[in-house]
Amino acid sequence: MPAELSPIDRAKYVAARRAIGFVEDGMRVGLGTGSTAAWMVKCLGEVVREDGLMVTCVATSTRTAELAQQVGLTVKTLEDVRWLDVTIDGTDEFDPKLNLIKGGGGALLREKIVATASDQMIVIADRSKQVDRLGAFPLPVEIVPFGWKTTQALIEEMLSNVEVMGRSAKLRMDGTEPFRSDQGNLILDLHLRRISNPAQLSLVLNQIPGVVENGLFLDVCDIVVIGNSDGTVELRDINSGTVEHERVDLLDGDNIFVDIVD
Ligand code: 5RP
Repeated sequence: MPAELSPIDRAKYVAARRAIGFVEDGMRVGLGTGSTAAWMVKCLGEVVREDGLMVTCVATSTRTAELAQQVGLTVKTLEDVRWLDVTIDGTDEFDPKLNLIKGGGGALLREKIVATASDQMIVIADRSKQVDRLGAFPLPVEIVPFGWKTTQALIEEMLSNVEVMGRSAKLRMDGTEPFRSDQGNLILDLHLRRISNPAQLSLVLNQIPGVVENGLFLDVCDIVVIGNSDGTVELRDINSGTVEHERVDLLDGDNIFVDIVD
């Protein structure tokens, strides 16, 4: 592991490297989106190129698909593959039950479809993503562009009837233009600060016309791999209730740091 990596990138890298250990020959693998998931894609590409591991991948975004192809992974559509053995993705927050807020990178819709189509979802994260209660990270909600201001008003009105601490729904921007998801939709970021009942909020959000999906991933994640900058990881398995600590073996000859720029 090169010394020039920042502590946060070292933590993301070791989480990604360890998570690749769950991938077996012949598996169908969902590839997440974001900076942590990008490390995972590079690590998986390296194992495929150097050890001959055979996997079929489904990407959760255009940018992940491009990176995956660049590192030599076979990428197919979910329509072709239908069901996946495992999905490995990053997160914006995870709580003690491994419930998540995702969508900081704007890929929440495809990420939720792909994770739900997987036997197992493994989340990779540095420790800054760990929270006691979800909500400090603004909750992304994907909405259709048609009548989006009405959808925004309906969401803000609904928020006054649920137990949250903030109520503003801000349109995500990409420079001077509204951000567009890979589906061509808009994202509203809900500044809630604290979500008392994530299941209720998820349900009511998705009942509002114009809402496509929200970034709460509840009862979807099976394992979280938390990376530390000292090269250790913590593995929490929500199904078995186990917590394990390991040191990740890093290869000196690792060449994933050159040539490929995320
Ligand atoms: C993208 C996501 C990402 O997984 C999440 O934003 C975490 O990203 P990063 O690993 O860059 O912190 O949900 O939609």
